[in-house]
Amino acid sequence: MLFAQITDLHCTAVGKEAKLGCDNNKNIALAIARINELSPRPDIVLATGDLTASGSPEQYESLTDLLEPLEVPLYIIPGNHDEHRPLLDAFSGKYGLEDDGYGYVRTVIDKYQLRLVSLDTTVHGHHHGAIPQERASWLDQVLSEKPDKPTLIFMHHPPFETGIWWMDKLGVLDGLDRLAKVLSDHNQVIGITAGHLHRTIHATFSGVPVTVAPTTCYSVGLNIHIEGSPVVTDEPPGMMMHLWQAGALVSHNLFLRKHNIYDVAPLVKDWPSRWKLMQNNDPIPKALGAIGDSVE
Ligand SMILES: [Fe+2]
Ligand SMILES: [Fe+2]
Repeated sequence: MLFAQITDLHCTAVGKEAKLGCDNNKNIALAIARINELSPRPDIVLATGDLTASGSPEQYESLTDLLEPLEVPLYIIPGNHDEHRPLLDAFSGKYGLEDDGYGYVRTVIDKYQLRLVSLDTTVHGHHHGAIPQERASWLDQVLSEKPDKPTLIFMHHPPFETGIWWMDKLGVLDGLDRLAKVLSDHNQVIGITAGHLHRTIHATFSGVPVTVAPTTCYSVGLNIHIEGSPVVTDEPPGMMMHLWQAGALVSHNLFLRKHNIYDVAPLVKDWPSRWKLMQNNDPIPKALGAIGDSVE
């Protein structure tokens, strides 16, 4: 199974561009175009929250148009920049979202070898995240249904502190103990993936690997344990490609902007010999040289 993850799109209303050194909507279009041209194409796309800049109906309308060209099934969860009601008004019945009256998103994607379960961490009216007992109980119940199926949890707020002080104030401030308890009861959870931090970050929580995908818009500056003003940067926007194979999840970072591509074969002294060894799964001796030798 191969799936893409886009996060923190922060879509703006048409004609009202964001002001933090980044054209958010242009980058969303770029991400959609990149996904459509990927080969092999991912089975699905996860969008892990902060779909819009502030959750207005106009922003969801703008996002609807930007998502329209996407040719891969999409699943959405909200982030702290989203608003539940306008989100459901725009997308209920699509993208794994249902207006089921629970007040939080409950998505289970169960048709692939890796099961994907959402955990909605949003708190109405606030930017921090939380995992109330009701949501922890739902997660526990869903995981109890398929105890032998490898499962990934996707959420907006990551369950750990980063060292970037002002983002940590916006972290999961309540309920991490509940999540830890659920994870300790269900060892089929192979990982967690999240967004919110606007940086690529890897961590562990209760012994479970956690990956945070890069944003498609502006990045959060890497000021660890510096009590200064919060900063954002124009580091390259990106997304993630997750590959589930041979019982392992491999997560690749992918930058959105176009880059040059160079064929390796002409850069190797004896490519035919090297090719033959690789086809036979034989080790490559250093005597055959290294990539780039032939251009010295
Ligand atoms: Fe965000
Ligand atoms: Fe966020």
